[in-house]
Amino acid sequence: MIKRPRRLRKSQAIRDMVSETRLSPSMFVYPVFIREGKNIIEDIPSMPGQKRYSPDKLPLILERAAKNKIGGVLFFGIPEHKDETASSAWDDNGVIQQAIRISKKEFPDLTVIGDVCLCEYTSHGHCGIINHGIIENDPTLEILSRVAVSQARAGADIVAPSDMMDGHTAAIREALDAEKFQDTLIMSYAVKYASAFYGPFREAAGSAPAFGDRKTYQMDPRNVREALKESALDIEEGADIIIVKPGLPYLDVLRAVKESCNVPVASYSVSGEYAMMKAAAANGWLNEKNIALESAYSIARAGADIIISYYALDLAEWLA
Ligand code: PBG
Ligand code: ZN
Repeated sequence: MIKRPRRLRKSQAIRDMVSETRLSPSMFVYPVFIREGKNIIEDIPSMPGQKRYSPDKLPLILERAAKNKIGGVLFFGIPEHKDETASSAWDDNGVIQQAIRISKKEFPDLTVIGDVCLCEYTSHGHCGIINHGIIENDPTLEILSRVAVSQARAGADIVAPSDMMDGHTAAIREALDAEKFQDTLIMSYAVKYASAFYGPFREAAGSAPAFGDRKTYQMDPRNVREALKESALDIEEGADIIIVKPGLPYLDVLRAVKESCNVPVASYSVSGEYAMMKAAAANGWLNEKNIALESAYSIARAGADIIISYYALDLAEWLA
């Protein structure tokens, strides 16, 4: 007798009924670039379809996010002024703080996540404070804590430290609690690889390092044990949610992290993944909607509870 598993594939309705993986807008997070200034919406050449907004123009895109009931928006700030200590990053009137206030005022129910890092704000483009050419881990923690507190003060629901300094989650948790922001969540980039897939982002955010690379603080793509160690430490330090990044090239890591921990896990499908899909689609080589959906299903199947993606709004609309 022939065994016939294909009966379960016989119609779209049945395939949907028995599918093991489901996507919903509430699991998507949409990254947004906000630059200082007024009345600005500008294209990002390496990320077709993505734009930089000045804070006053932000409601245009947030409205689409709110209407589609997506899980949240993740804000990256691009300041006018950069210096050695990233002072614009913790300015209560900084570009990201303005953006957070506008978002919470106009769309109170939309979850706002603030990126906590220094590379967009430092003159040298590194994620930490530099002394004699070396990234200084512990002095950076003090600055990151100030950034997180100022974002919480502006109304951020979640702060997301992407710097990869050791001990960042504990330092930020302590600083938030001391300022009575016990309810502000930390979504920590526990597992972030030194990846070439961040190229378009660095152009978008003007955050490429002026010298050297990020290999002393971001992880080696050849390793997975390190991911388990980093995520365990971050959870112990108080991370409420952890991020594994990039997305599609690291599904094995995502699965291993997911199985080893007890907090929600987010996968960040990064700028380079988006740029590849866009480029192939623009050439007519691949079907954009189908590859973007298949990528998202794959990330969810590998174990992601949350998917951070530049396709978040499109995905939500395609699924509707
Ligand atoms: C900076 C930061 C980067 C990304 C998010 N936060 C770039 C980097 O580490 O160089 C990459 C996101 C993307 O490529 O979409 N801390
Ligand atoms: Zn950084």
